Amino acid sequence: MSNNLLSGKRGVIFGALDEQSIAWKVAERCVEEGASITLTNAPVALRMGKIKDLAEKLNTEVIAADATSMEDLENLFEKSQEILGGKLDFVLHSIGMSINVRKKREYTDLKHDWMLKTFDISAISFHKMMQTLWKMDAVNDWGSILGLTYIAAQRTFPDYNEMAESKALLESFARSFGYHYGLRNKVRVNTISQSPTWTTAGSGVKGFSEFFGYADKMSPLGNASAGACADYCVTLFSDLTRSVTMQNLYHDGGFSNMGMNPAVLDL
Ligand SMILES: NC(=O)c1ccc[n+]([C@@H]2O[C@H](COP(=O)([O-])OP(=O)(O)OC[C@H]3O[C@@H](n4cnc5c(N)ncnc54)[C@H](O)[C@@H]3O)[C@@H](O)[C@H]2O)c1
Repeated sequence: MSNNLLSGKRGVIFGALDEQSIAWKVAERCVEEGASITLTNAPVALRMGKIKDLAEKLNTEVIAADATSMEDLENLFEKSQEILGGKLDFVLHSIGMSINVRKKREYTDLKHDWMLKTFDISAISFHKMMQTLWKMDAVNDWGSILGLTYIAAQRTFPDYNEMAESKALLESFARSFGYHYGLRNKVRVNTISQSPTWTTAGSGVKGFSEFFGYADKMSPLGNASAGACADYCVTLFSDLTRSVTMQNLYHDGGFSNMGMNPAVLDL
């Protein structure tokens, strides 16, 4: 169902790997709502993932960029503006990867050089992306920038490991850059704190299945799906949310405000 909420808008979507990726659903919904977009992902994801199928389906282009490389980011935003025919109106950062989680290191036995790489990919890339956009003056006034995060930034979820600190950093970058970008260009910057979702990144977390089931039972609305997250992203890219900025917005079926739900006690 389309309401043309993004008619005439131009955007860049980071992080679509396969059909399960949250960014995949966001890209589909944005185009459905009338936006023109480019897709981007790390060079390795272009080789291994299915992003080219998505590009074909949406009749758009894929530009490879390692989100930790300033050079790649400059090239990405330059090419995107050329292809789309002008400055951008929205950008989605949907990137997460932990080396220590991938290598199954316990939280009390992490390798700190891997931790720094995790922070660079999962959080500092958000700052790098915004700084590049800022210096190129590549976003129209009243544009919207979004990052995806998880409630482990505020509460302890032991198996989320060093991604908890990555998300805390990501959310902080949204607030700090949101101040500067708001002041100069009325550009808003927010993070969406999403329910556990079955994706490549999500299911890489130890005990994800139990984790997913627990959150689903605990939340009065159940876990928010990737499709529902895409709908929420569309509203935040649209002109209907022009005064929302520097926020961490929970999209989690009510999980974040629950204390106890008898459903989880299995009585
Ligand atoms: N799945 C969940 O349970 C869940 C919950 C809350 C938040 N999130 C967040 O949503 C976002 C998207 O993840 P997802 O669940 O759709 O999984 P996903 O695995 O489909 O997406 C993660 C993406 O990050 C990309 N990426 C990794 N390293 C990169 C780099 N150096 N440069 C550019 N891209 C790189 C991957 O190629 C992939 O496309 C992440 O920030 C994740 O932390 C996920």
